[in-house]
Amino acid sequence: GLPARVRIHEVGARDGLQNEKATVPTEVKAEFVHRLADAGLTTIEATSFVHPKWVPQLADAEALMPLLGDLDGVRLPVLVPNERGLDRALALGVREIAVFGSATESFAKANLNRTVDESLAMFEPVVAKARDAGASVRGYLSMCFGDPWEGAVPVDQVAGVAKRLADLGCDELSLGDTIGVATPGHVTALLTTLGEAGLPAARLAVHFHDTYGQALANTLAALRFGVTTVDASAGGLGGCPYAKSATGNLATEDLVWMLTGLGIDTGVDLARLTATSVWMAGHLGRPSPSRTVRALSHE
Ligand code: HMG
Ligand code: MG
Repeated sequence: GLPARVRIHEVGARDGLQNEKATVPTEVKAEFVHRLADAGLTTIEATSFVHPKWVPQLADAEALMPLLGDLDGVRLPVLVPNERGLDRALALGVREIAVFGSATESFAKANLNRTVDESLAMFEPVVAKARDAGASVRGYLSMCFGDPWEGAVPVDQVAGVAKRLADLGCDELSLGDTIGVATPGHVTALLTTLGEAGLPAARLAVHFHDTYGQALANTLAALRFGVTTVDASAGGLGGCPYAKSATGNLATEDLVWMLTGLGIDTGVDLARLTATSVWMAGHLGRPSPSRTVRALSHE
């Protein structure tokens, strides 16, 4: 069966904008988040508290967060890799954070300048301190299907790191197909292995990039398996600056179109969301890659 309702974890303002060549002014980012909230999205990942040299597009996190202070009832998680990032976020009143690990050594090195072991050791005090402060914690796991340097990633390898990340105290684990190579059978195989490792679908989210056009099919496979939290980015913005061949996330509009057709409630107003992505495309100087945005806006 399929779930009656899906929670969309909107990542356009973070995963999307972190990889755009154009630097978007802070005020435009704030308007983007407000427009996403007006379109009915209730979890909107706002930015990252990472090293500003590593991700210059999000270097304005301190300036952005106060501009979002009026968004009652909207969850605004942010990425933090280490204690320095957590302290910066907590100082601004952030209530929800995400750490981000990798199932592969190559990407741990490229993205965090750490081995897998070292990155988990880096996250351990972050998760503990965040929970002590009453913040909820998401754990991202990247390269859950394929890695640009290492090729296909064995499901047992992913399950091993996933379990260690979850055991640090993460409320939820988001499985990243960072370079978009997964196909539905692989999704089912990984979810099966994770279930056997003690990580049921209820604790998982899926995070598909759409490089090979498989993100919707993969999402459907995950929904059939009982996953009810799906990451997506408005207009299909995004990628990852430290993974070659990573393109945009599953577009939120494409996801909403499919879910609506399946009778699954998301609370999202598709017309408002599409208008937001068209507006953002104007700021970025390139059309949205989302098929649904194009169809609905007659671009
Ligand atoms: P490092 O160079 O090893 O840092 O980078 P360090 O710990 O050696 O510290 C060096 C200096 O940086 C120090 O300053 C620190 O204070 C400072 P100094 O003492 O030399 O003056 N520093 C910081 N400054 C501000 N904020 C901080 C911070 N941390 C250290 N948080 C580090 C290690 C983790 C910092 C770096 O690798 C980094 O920032 N990486 C972030 C990369 C990133 O954001 N990638 C994109 C997000 S992941 C993603 O997109 C995948 C996802 O979407 C899922 C999927 O698709 O798979 C989530
Ligand atoms: Mg991503």
